[in-house]
Amino acid sequence: MPSLQELIHAFEQEINAFIPANAADLEQYRIRFLGAKGAVKQLAAEMKSVPPEGRKEAGMMLNAFKQLAESRYEEHSLVFNSGADSGPALDISLPGVPVPAGTRHPLRVVENQIVSIFEKIGFSVATGPEIEDDWHNFTSLNMPENHTARDMQDTFYISQNPDWVLRTHTSSVQARILETQPLPVRVICPGRVYRNETISARAHCFFHQFEGLYVDKGVSFADLKQTLYYFVTEMFGPDTKVRFRPSYFPFTEPSAEMDISCTVCGGSGCNLCKHSGWVEILGCGMVHPNLLRNFGIDPEVYTGFAFGLGVERITQIKFAVNDLRLYSQNDVRFLRQFQGL
Ligand code: DAH
Repeated sequence: MPSLQELIHAFEQEINAFIPANAADLEQYRIRFLGAKGAVKQLAAEMKSVPPEGRKEAGMMLNAFKQLAESRYEEHSLVFNSGADSGPALDISLPGVPVPAGTRHPLRVVENQIVSIFEKIGFSVATGPEIEDDWHNFTSLNMPENHTARDMQDTFYISQNPDWVLRTHTSSVQARILETQPLPVRVICPGRVYRNETISARAHCFFHQFEGLYVDKGVSFADLKQTLYYFVTEMFGPDTKVRFRPSYFPFTEPSAEMDISCTVCGGSGCNLCKHSGWVEILGCGMVHPNLLRNFGIDPEVYTGFAFGLGVERITQIKFAVNDLRLYSQNDVRFLRQFQGL
C-alpha cells in the first residue's frame, strides 16, 4: 500500500502535467481530482488509516494538495467557456472580430483619381502654402491691386500682416512653380482654397481645387484641348463630349471654360445640367505672357497652358452629391456610402 504522502505526490505530478485541450478535458480533470469520488475525497478517506500522531501533518499536506487541485482548475477554466463542452473559447480558426475602419473621404477618392489620370501622361504633383502672400495669389498672376477680378475672390485677410491671405485658388502654386522650377514643367497642384462666401448648398468658405500647368517650347491650345479631353474621358467615360466656351481670366490669354455633356441625362436635360445638357467643369487657357515675364521667362521662346478645376464639382457630378455642406459635416451616414472606394 502506498503511503498518503506517496499518493499525494503521484497526484501532484499528474496535475502538473495536465494541459486540457478543451472544456471536456477539463471536466474530466474536475471529476478526477475534485469530484465526489475524486482524489481529494479519496485522500480524505485515507486519513483514518493515518496514526493519530501523524494526522496533523497529513491534514496540512491534504489541504495543500486540495488548494493546488482547485487553483489549477480555476486557471484552466479561465481559458475555456465555463462548463460548455464546445471546445476552447479561443478558436483561432474563426474569422477575427472586425475593427471598425474609417472610409476615404469622397473628395480624397476623386483627388486620387485625378492624380493618377494626370500622372499617366507625365504630370507630377506639386503643392503650395494655404496662407499666401499677395504677390503669389494675385499680383504676379496679372491681378494687381484694384484689379476688378479680385472682387470675385474675396477671401480672409490676416490682420498681423495685410500682405497675407488665405489663398483663393491653387493658381498661386503656378506662380511658385514658375518662380522656382527649371523649364519645362508639367504639374498638377491639388489643394484647399478659401473664399469669403456665405455657406449654402452651392457655396462654401473653403473648397478644393486642382491646378494644372504645362510650360515648354511649342505648347499650343491644341495640346490643352487634347489633354483635357483625355482627362474627361478617363474620368467620366469615353462617350463624354466636351465643349470650350470663350471666357476671361487675368492669368490666361486666350481663356476658356470647358463643359462636359451631362453625365446624368446624357444631354437631354435634367436638374444637374439645369436643362442645358452641359455641365461646366473647369477654367483654362494659354498662360498669359505677362506671367511668364514676371518670372523671367521669355514668352517668345516658351508657351504654356493652365487649367483650374473644382474637386467638389467633379465629385458632385460623379457621385450625385447635391449639397456642398455634406463634405464637411462629418456625418458618417454620408461618408460610409463611399466605403471601399
Ligand atoms: N483660378 C481660377 C479660379 O479659381 C480657375 C482657373 C481658371 C485656373 C483658368 C487656371 C486657368 O489655371 O487657366 O476660378
